Amino acid sequence: MGRLKTHWLQILTHIVSLLPLAILIWDFRQDRLTANPIQEITLRTGSYSLILLLLSLACTPLNTMFGLKSVSRLRRPLGLYGFMYACLHTLNFIGLDYGFNLNLLREDVFGKAYIWAGVIAWLALLPVAITSTRGWIKRLGRNWERLHWLVYPAALLSVFHFLLLVKADRREPLLYAAAVGLLLLLRLPGVRRVVNKLRDRLKFPTFLAHSG
Ligand code: HEM
Repeated sequence: MGRLKTHWLQILTHIVSLLPLAILIWDFRQDRLTANPIQEITLRTGSYSLILLLLSLACTPLNTMFGLKSVSRLRRPLGLYGFMYACLHTLNFIGLDYGFNLNLLREDVFGKAYIWAGVIAWLALLPVAITSTRGWIKRLGRNWERLHWLVYPAALLSVFHFLLLVKADRREPLLYAAAVGLLLLLRLPGVRRVVNKLRDRLKFPTFLAHSG
């Protein structure tokens, strides 16, 4: 029963993660991507990437605090889809927006802090994505976990990247910043102990605590 539930959760994850891409392609073909489709693709893929990265980071705390084992198995696909959108986001910007003209890119954006924040975030995610296979998990042993901590600075840098490029209403990037902050806090052993005590005191439903 547990295995079946995990299987369906995984299928749902693939659908939910790929649906925005399908809608993006559909809107593109229907000419519904605003007057500036390239910018719209950059904005949408950037947002999808950040949302999926945060969902991926939420999986471990949900498992350690509420025993949601099946959710912890979604961490890898969600993270990889987040990285996929980050690649599409970067490729769209460099390829479609700038036609891979590195000289033009250098003149226009290389001095901009938000671009560097985005590039470093992407570079931090690259080794994480490459080493997310079972073979690498075995090969790297304990170092694998250390390496995968890079997802946190990558998420923080992505939020910073967003924050720097927003000129007026900063509520959305600040909301993402609060989410990353909360997820980081929940990884601290002291905070985890307090939450676990609170969970026991509130008698959190046991069916959620054994959903592996
Ligand atoms: C992990 C990597 C990255 C993430 C998660 C990310 C995320 C985001 C987000 C959330 C936005 C704002 C979307 C919105 O306003 O709705 C954005 C915008 C943008 N990103 Fe990234 N980004 C990343 C890497 C990069 C890289 C490497 C570049 C360029 C080389 C880049 C270039 C841009 C540009 C130019 C915009 C603004 C588009 C505009 O306002 O016209 N990003 N990104």
